[in-house]
Amino acid sequence: MSDCPPDPSIRVTLLPRDTNSHGSIFGGVILSHIDLAGAIEAQKLNPDRQFVTVAMDEVIFHQPVYVGDVVSFYTRLERVGRTSVRVHVDVRARRRRSREEVPVTEADLVFVAVDEDRRPVPVLDEDARPPA
Ligand SMILES: CC(C)(COP(=O)(O)OP(=O)(O)OC[C@H]1O[C@@H](n2cnc3c(N)ncnc32)[C@H](O)[C@@H]1OP(=O)(O)O)[C@@H](O)C(=O)NCCC(=O)NCCS
Repeated sequence: MSDCPPDPSIRVTLLPRDTNSHGSIFGGVILSHIDLAGAIEAQKLNPDRQFVTVAMDEVIFHQPVYVGDVVSFYTRLERVGRTSVRVHVDVRARRRRSREEVPVTEADLVFVAVDEDRRPVPVLDEDARPPA
């Protein structure tokens, strides 16, 4: 887990409907928010592009998330390729009656910029790309 930016891409609190049979939050719910938070980060790079998720790599669930936790999804752009971007997502939970956030999950995702036919296109416009 690395230092987080000051503001998360998403902050949510989760409900009893999101729990698994152990009473903690179902991992798939966390993954869905990770996906959204990562897409928000990708979109910041070029708001004119539509991005789809091609890979979720190395998802690590460090600690459970509980109903009532305030869960923040911090994102960091890791790499800009030609048609893809890699985003790291750090998930932290503030437990009820606590002021501190604890690291609960992290993941690396790859998003691909696509056109209307869902074919890969360059992430950045040619004039926005720094010279090689
Ligand atoms: C995303 C998609 C359009 C890519 O198509 P593709 O034919 O694999 O495209 P390419 O081989 O040209 O690869 C495009 C980019 O994705 C990267 N990429 C492809 N597969 C990857 C993988 N498994 N992991 C990491 N990067 C990957 C390539 O390296 C390339 O990046 P670059 O241009 O920055 O070098 C296609 O796989 C797709 O439609 N997938 C479904 C997406 C979706 O519906 N997501 C929602 C989840 S249900």
